Amino acid sequence: MSNLKQSENSHGVRKILVSGVKPTGRVHIGNYFGAMKQFIDLQDKYESYIFIADYHAMTTVQNRAELMQGIIDVALDYLAIGLDPKKVTLFKQSDVPQVAELTWMFNCITTVPYLMRAHAYKDAEAKNKEINVGLFDYPLLMASDILMQNADIVPIGQDQKQHVEYARDTAQKFNRIYGETFKMPEHYILPKVETIPGTDGKKMSKSNENIIPLFATDEEIKKAVMKIPTDSKGVDEAKNPDESLLFAIHKLLLDGEALKNLENKYIEGGMGYKEAKELLIKDLTNFIKPMREKREMLAQDMDTVFDILKTGGKRAFMNAEKKMKEVREKVGVEIY
Ligand code: TRP
Repeated sequence: MSNLKQSENSHGVRKILVSGVKPTGRVHIGNYFGAMKQFIDLQDKYESYIFIADYHAMTTVQNRAELMQGIIDVALDYLAIGLDPKKVTLFKQSDVPQVAELTWMFNCITTVPYLMRAHAYKDAEAKNKEINVGLFDYPLLMASDILMQNADIVPIGQDQKQHVEYARDTAQKFNRIYGETFKMPEHYILPKVETIPGTDGKKMSKSNENIIPLFATDEEIKKAVMKIPTDSKGVDEAKNPDESLLFAIHKLLLDGEALKNLENKYIEGGMGYKEAKELLIKDLTNFIKPMREKREMLAQDMDTVFDILKTGGKRAFMNAEKKMKEVREKVGVEIY
């Protein structure tokens, strides 16, 4: 027992990981290092279910073409960065319509004031936004995603922590009313990566218009790097890497010897910012190009991508059907 791996239960069976990804448009290296990459790191340890949260997206995206493109982009993005469909069940949420059915049942055991305490709802309310019922109900749909697949752990960003609390509370409430049915999930907050700066030094985000796209073309890489401001130190002057935005971005791509070497070049002087930018362009290109090419290849072979989603969808659907048999029975709608 003592050397039990954390990712296994007491029978040596891998724990179940569930997480959803909402389509966000064009992803950038901030998304990659902040969140996306970690699903790849976890895929060997857990029995993973990663899905494209298209039902959740409908709370904000009400345009057919945009939703379809968003779904496809998430699938391409994750496959291109190395999500392995042999290890991970990758699927689209709407291929498991049972989550909508379960959400309804959860709706019926949840009070309105309880849902009104959700941060996302309160934020929207504070901004005087028009709040649709879907947005209000968002936490219970997410609870259904999680509980449907018997999740042990749910990797999420800090902003989604409350939603996992909702899933836990809802599981408890259901279990209390109808008897032990749902496993209690734990959140897994992605290890704190430093905030990734954009090309202007502010947090990298689309709205700040300071991104380096994860699948950038060579031209886009050059353009983004050229925008990065530097101070006016001359070539020979010693430079403090910790004060350099260029270095802050560059160090994401390096470790060990290579990182040390670059750091020394700053400290010792002799490297001008022109050269530092050229080095960053080279390393970004080496990092991005293989993923970009993989994405382009996949995009030309959508049948394969769709097959991956369909296969994952079938597996998730079957798990859900098994779970819902039990649930329907317990709530009392299963009379035959
Ligand atoms: N709400 C999550 C987000 O915006 C996406 C999501 C939907 C999710 N269902 C989930 C994440 C279930 C984890 C588990 O990022």
